[in-house]
Amino acid sequence: MSTQTFAEKIAQAQDFLPINGTDYIEFYVGNAKQAAHYYKTAFGFKSLAYAGPETGVRDRASYVVQQGKIKLVLTSGLQSDSLISEHAKKHGDGVKILALWVDDAYDAYEQTIKRGAESYLEPQTLTDEFGEVKMAGIYTYGETVHMFIERKNYDGAFMPGYEKWESDYNPSDAGLLYVDHCVGNVDWNRMLPVVKWYEDVMGFVNILSFDDKQINTEYSALMSKVMSNGNGYSKFPINEPAEGQRKSQVEEYLDFYEGEGVQHIAVATKDIIKTVTELKARGVEFLSAPPEAYYDMIPDRVGEIDEDIKKLQNLGILVDCDEEGYLLQIFTKPVEDRPTLFYEIIERHGAQSFGAGNFKALFEALEKEQEKRGNL
Ligand code: FE2
Repeated sequence: MSTQTFAEKIAQAQDFLPINGTDYIEFYVGNAKQAAHYYKTAFGFKSLAYAGPETGVRDRASYVVQQGKIKLVLTSGLQSDSLISEHAKKHGDGVKILALWVDDAYDAYEQTIKRGAESYLEPQTLTDEFGEVKMAGIYTYGETVHMFIERKNYDGAFMPGYEKWESDYNPSDAGLLYVDHCVGNVDWNRMLPVVKWYEDVMGFVNILSFDDKQINTEYSALMSKVMSNGNGYSKFPINEPAEGQRKSQVEEYLDFYEGEGVQHIAVATKDIIKTVTELKARGVEFLSAPPEAYYDMIPDRVGEIDEDIKKLQNLGILVDCDEEGYLLQIFTKPVEDRPTLFYEIIERHGAQSFGAGNFKALFEALEKEQEKRGNL
């Protein structure tokens, strides 16, 4: 284990691309109206803005929903030959744009293009009565895009082109606060080139790495490297499949997404027990809880935690720790028909890592159960 803290590693990032955090995440989906309803009903997002034929946009419908600092844009194409419809046809519902909030979108574009980025959208300034938003975009892995959004001179609901979306249907929120990290799945032998891309083009640093010896089960394995910008507000772990006895979960994703893309979005809460209880009541499906032995081992493995372990166990919430503290996390099942995108709910108590300890612990717990049955 490296002796550097996360803060020390992050401090080595280059500062040519200052990022204030995630601005929004845009999905290209088959039916944006229904997707928006799902995020409101199941996850507790609120209506924020809308763009479509009624607002003068002819080729698409976009619904923006918000919870805490998290803004999701659900977009559908209105004709079969639109690039949005083609994206949804190929990949299923999925993330198209990971938008980053910057102070200078034109400069962000220039700096990254200069370092080898492929252009998606040349810098442009959009204006309306609420001010101006500057934006530009570059491709990252697969067909996924990083959009740079500069909104310091804007005080409208979302951005020019959108109208405020007032809805009579406003379910209560679920305590989701901000995007903690977004994970990308890339193809065989593509993790290192993508990591190098984040280093060279974005000035990010690699703060954590796992190889297939650390993240594996008897059947499946993956490799991962976590990339972070200079203030730690923007973290993109990159996964690549690894050889196992059976198909790796990353490989399954690549097969069904038909390419590289966003695997999971981790959203932070300050009260994971409350949040998960709420989400379950609204129909969000989570991966099943690990065996009892996993929870019996928490005091030894993690040390003292504030939460009642019994409550965590009832909800299937996982616990992990690093040198700086502990974290609580749980993963949803995929939120569409294809086994592709899912969500992670995370509550950090000092720990800056990503829960890799849970893989091993989960495994050991499984074997302990197996042993109890006399089958090990
Ligand atoms: Fe994660």
